[in-house]
Amino acid sequence: MTNPIVLGIETSCDETGIGIVRGLDLLANELASSVQEHARFGGVVPEVASRAHLEAMEPTLQRACATAGITLQDIDAIAVTAGPGLVGALIVGTATAKALAVALGVPVFAVNHLAAHVVVDELQDGLLPNEAIALLVSGGHSSLLSVHDGSRFDVLGQTLDDAAGEAFDKVARLLGLPFPGGPAIDAAAIEGNRDAIDFPRGLSTELDRYPYDFSFSGLKTAVSRWLTARQTAGETVSIPDVAASVQEAIVDVLTSRAVAACRDHGIDTLVVGGGVAANSRLRALAAKRCETAGLTLRIPRPGLCTDNGAMVAALGAKLLRQGAVASDLAFETSSYRPVDQG
Ligand code: KG4
Ligand code: ZN
Repeated sequence: MTNPIVLGIETSCDETGIGIVRGLDLLANELASSVQEHARFGGVVPEVASRAHLEAMEPTLQRACATAGITLQDIDAIAVTAGPGLVGALIVGTATAKALAVALGVPVFAVNHLAAHVVVDELQDGLLPNEAIALLVSGGHSSLLSVHDGSRFDVLGQTLDDAAGEAFDKVARLLGLPFPGGPAIDAAAIEGNRDAIDFPRGLSTELDRYPYDFSFSGLKTAVSRWLTARQTAGETVSIPDVAASVQEAIVDVLTSRAVAACRDHGIDTLVVGGGVAANSRLRALAAKRCETAGLTLRIPRPGLCTDNGAMVAALGAKLLRQGAVASDLAFETSSYRPVDQG
């Protein structure tokens, strides 16, 4: 089958994503978000997310088919996020995928959300090279990966505590910025001075022991202490300066270790994926450091970085291209699904 049409279903957190691809062409990428329903709680409430997926699934699917100009009968294969994520939310997607696969008589691929965050770049920049390093930065995960054939992953390093997105979200809360914190800090930082405050770069004194790992929990504590000290002294705090300095501390560590991983492994392509890859300063600094190091940077446009259905469809299309065996319909949905275990 040349250029099969693949439907991708994403429901691991608070975004109901339906993507449709034909080969490497993106035909539709429809999203329904429940983020506003979670905002007053300051974080995603699993039960609320699951109900929202259930309500959004059918209309989002219809919208995606309309945008792509296809009917369900045109679909050749289905890919669905089977983990990691919130199980109640994932089940809405996997149950839909299984039902559609049976009804349409097409294969279904149960895919890893983290792998999809990396492979989505193929929709923008073409097939991945045989070997690449990936910096995967989302709300729940932060890792440096060695990527083989765009489909097998070895974990070189990861966060020892908070994920990068989690650090953005927690610091935003300290600053009184809305949830999700990453986009709010990104926006506030535009008016700020990134050199105003020298916040700590986690593990920077332990590079020998942790060359590719990250640690962000100390940053959150440092920001909290810094704010308390200023408030106790009655000083005015510039939110843009704090936002820009925190953002710099996070993206400085992420980009310097990603470039070091490429250099140490003799690999000339860096792929950056996950929600935090939408960050404007991360994108700028990664571009600058990759250029200096002579590396090719592949980073999807922001709409493909945060959770979406196209990334799942892209991985499904890749698996089909590689002749992978489809999943048994009894496949499991799991909150824990390491990227190096498929
Ligand atoms: O990949 P993603 O959409 O969902 C997960 O798989 O977790 O990532 C969500 C995370 C959140 O922590 C959010 O604050 C962060 O990505 N994020 C950003 C930006 N946009 C989203 N962080 C920094 N800057 C942004 N522009
Ligand atoms: Zn994600």
